[in-house]
Amino acid sequence: MTHCYLGIDLGTSAVKLLLAEADGTIRGTVTKEYPLSFPHPGWSEQDPADWWSAVREGIPELLGACGGCTVDGIGAGGQMHGLVALDENDEVIRPAILWNDGRTAEETEWLNTVIGKEKLSALTANIAFAGFTAPKLLWMKKHEPENFARIRKIMLPKDYINYRLTGVHACDYSDASGMLLLDVEHKCWSQEMLDICHVSREQMPQLFESSDVIGTLLPPVAKSLGLSPKVRVVAGAGDNAAAAVGTGTVGDGACNISLGTSGTIFISSESFGVDPNNALHAFAHADGSYHLMGCMLSAASCNKWFCDGILRTRDYAAEQAGILDGALGRNKVFFLPYLMGERSPINDTNARGMFIGMSMDTGRADLVQAVLEGVAFAIRDSFEVALSLGIPVTRSRICGGGARSPLWRKIIANVLGIPLDVPQTEEGPGYGAAMLAMVGCGRYKNVKDCAAALIRTTETVLPDPAIARRYEERYQKFRNLYPAVRGLFRTIK
Ligand code: XUL
Repeated sequence: MTHCYLGIDLGTSAVKLLLAEADGTIRGTVTKEYPLSFPHPGWSEQDPADWWSAVREGIPELLGACGGCTVDGIGAGGQMHGLVALDENDEVIRPAILWNDGRTAEETEWLNTVIGKEKLSALTANIAFAGFTAPKLLWMKKHEPENFARIRKIMLPKDYINYRLTGVHACDYSDASGMLLLDVEHKCWSQEMLDICHVSREQMPQLFESSDVIGTLLPPVAKSLGLSPKVRVVAGAGDNAAAAVGTGTVGDGACNISLGTSGTIFISSESFGVDPNNALHAFAHADGSYHLMGCMLSAASCNKWFCDGILRTRDYAAEQAGILDGALGRNKVFFLPYLMGERSPINDTNARGMFIGMSMDTGRADLVQAVLEGVAFAIRDSFEVALSLGIPVTRSRICGGGARSPLWRKIIANVLGIPLDVPQTEEGPGYGAAMLAMVGCGRYKNVKDCAAALIRTTETVLPDPAIARRYEERYQKFRNLYPAVRGLFRTIK
């Protein structure tokens, strides 16, 4: 029997489960999708019971497909910021309000103006964004006071799974950073922020480092999953920190771009630091240190929306096949990728998607290309913030579903003008979560050693000077678009 580690990536469209050996060999993966609901424009919810069913069905399926494995440890990386509210019996009170939900515009505004950005930043290293957990608590108190009064525990999505596995209410520092309730620098709950949000310390989960063991499997759960009750579960991480671990983005100044439902640019740092304008989030990292991160709310989801929803095809490769090097940087059509509003760096819940620059000769491929480019330009916006802080990002890793497209990787390398390293596994968060379990079970001394031993680059995408020059010109035009229409978005709500 080979000792294996199970990584759970609790995403927005699906949970991806992965079984890895301590030498990094991936024994198998299983993906289980679940529904996402948009009950009102700009709202985004999921039922935690769906996450748990997907995990409970997926684990035995994965074990069945990978014979000869004994699981020593489990780690989870999960979609961040989602509010999972539990009552006195640990039952879920209402559907989880997710990271890309924009209903809290008023509460966010109140926090940023009445409490004030300066104070929020001093207490938590961050300001309020609509997707963060604290404004959701204020929204619930105002709009659903009976539900709010029933809350006994406040959990994040992957912490709910860890709770179902172990019975322990835990949270790690990287994920807790996105609640706007954590004093990120000192790694403890901010009593002042808890008071502002009318919650008590008893309602918060216990805090851990990501590779700390929080407990073992509850015996009935272990039995139903086909695992031993001795299996250890680590605290895990927010999906971006887990992806960073899974791509080896640890230590000072390493960068990872994740092209999932959201798009993020993640820069690890050994010391704590805050963006003075708070355009980038300042969070704890899963390796015990810190990171800065820009997050756009719709990345690979823009391509999915346009291809699946509008063009009615799932053959993305066929849609991209006709877009050749000569067309890169020459597209006359721009796309603003703000389908769910936008977080970094513009922080605007009213922003929406938009094509601009079409003419009678615009074809299907131009629009497909504009969508890929719009996402790349929006990532560049956060990249520019990092550069303006004096962080010299000269190369990056890239992972996530969108990074499977060679065309999209090439566009991003040229729009940013830096080489992109493609790691041997693009299962960023799941792989990183399995690595955290390896560390928790003592197979590696720490996360950094584990990453140094396991992460390999298989390909580097280099920018092409001619294409990068053309994209530079296009980006300078893209930058003018949102400021020109910002005011309109409020009026067309
Ligand atoms: C990060 C964020 C998203 C979600 C996606 O701040 O909101 O990347 O974690 O799962």
